[in-house]
Amino acid sequence: MQFYFELASTSKIGSNKNENTFDRGAPTLDRSLFLLSKGLIVQNRGMRLTRWLWWTPSIVILGAASPTEQVDFGKDIRPILAQKCVPCHSEGGSGPFALQTFAQARKRGDLIRLVSLTGQMPPTDARSDLVSLTPHQPLIGTELRTIQEWFRLGMPEGAKTKPLPTPEKRKPFVSDHVVVAQVGKGQAIPSEGRSATVVYPINSLSGQVGYLGYFSFQPDAPKAVRQVVLAVQRPGQQPPFTQTGLRPGTSYAVWSDGFNPWQSGSGYISVEKEDRLWLRVIAVPTGKPEPASGLMTFGREYRSDKVQTKTMGNDTFVVEAEKIVTLRDEWVLDQDIDLISILPEARFVTDQVRFIAKSGTGEKLVAMVHTWDATWPGAYNFAKPLRLRKGTSLIYEASVPNTKHGHAAEDEKSQTLRFGPRSTDELFSCHINYIPR
Ligand code: HEC
Repeated sequence: MQFYFELASTSKIGSNKNENTFDRGAPTLDRSLFLLSKGLIVQNRGMRLTRWLWWTPSIVILGAASPTEQVDFGKDIRPILAQKCVPCHSEGGSGPFALQTFAQARKRGDLIRLVSLTGQMPPTDARSDLVSLTPHQPLIGTELRTIQEWFRLGMPEGAKTKPLPTPEKRKPFVSDHVVVAQVGKGQAIPSEGRSATVVYPINSLSGQVGYLGYFSFQPDAPKAVRQVVLAVQRPGQQPPFTQTGLRPGTSYAVWSDGFNPWQSGSGYISVEKEDRLWLRVIAVPTGKPEPASGLMTFGREYRSDKVQTKTMGNDTFVVEAEKIVTLRDEWVLDQDIDLISILPEARFVTDQVRFIAKSGTGEKLVAMVHTWDATWPGAYNFAKPLRLRKGTSLIYEASVPNTKHGHAAEDEKSQTLRFGPRSTDELFSCHINYIPR
């Protein structure tokens, strides 16, 4: 089944038309929360949540909800946790505590309300006008109001409920079409820092994959590892990862914490005998050294089309100190394509990335990461391949507020910002997996 998108509508970006992610009933609340969360997240860069708990009173005022029925845990809160929190907040997951029972949720009620209203959780808030994205879905207006109302009522339990089940570990299924391997033995995540990148080759597996259509990872350090990108080095090419990210045009597949496995849907990435596979692990140091290793699952795909990669963005931008700019790149399609996934790369000054499809008849948001967080980098897999017609313009944009508030280092004054390898430099690229049609 495929999702066909005709650019026939004239709706504008930002008009909150997406029924999946915005609640149309509450534009005012959404808007206030939007502004509030932006403000707080900029303030919050590099700070612990506890440092801004005193913001709480202003949040309470926003929570003026008017539900018709009394909110309780079993009926209202539990389903939200099941869908949007338990993928990580469960036994063995990346979240620092489980949110599977009434007692666990009640104990953290205040924090749950706070991280929800400020847009801090779920951690990457990506939205699309066109097709659902497989990463964590943001909370919508009605859910935010429900959480707030539950808190206001003193967190009632309602009918007794069973603990929410721990999500099934994606056990490798064994068949002719799957290769499972333990990789990265001896590779370590440093114990300190804001975010850490570990890159290593997987020598043992090169040549065994054939046609890669599925990729998943089970980290040995689930609390630390947030994203794993698999990339293919072709003969005669340089290694695929540089200090500034993935080399343009490189074939990749990606796994992220709490996401579904990477699945091309209707295509495959070819991995030939002479090719070499590499992994890039993005992790958050936990205070002690952790392994960057894990169990990797490749699915082989035999009957489909070849996935290609297009890289957008550029490495020549300059953003003057104290300037707020939008970086932009455009790709006009010279044939029909099916979009499979996108992997934006940006660091700490960028605060939002957008990916827009534009034709003579209108614009649609293909994907937007509303509050970019470089410690939660996103690779966005579309739930279904998204067909875009020849002549459509794909626009990749990043908002870069190069002011002292937006700046990673929290300097007195911001510096001129350029593309580069240091954490205080920026990146502006996006790698797009697609199938030509
Ligand atoms: C993709 C995984 C993931 C999802 C989904 C997720 N969380 Fe979290 N959560 C984490 C991790 C990891 C942390 C630890 C802090 C960090 O690294 O950002 C965390 C931290 C928290 C904290 C503590 C914040 C602090 O700074 O002390 C709360 C409360 C929380 N999450 C609630 C939620 C709620 C409520 C949801 C659902 C609406 C949710 N989380 C969804 C992974 C997740």
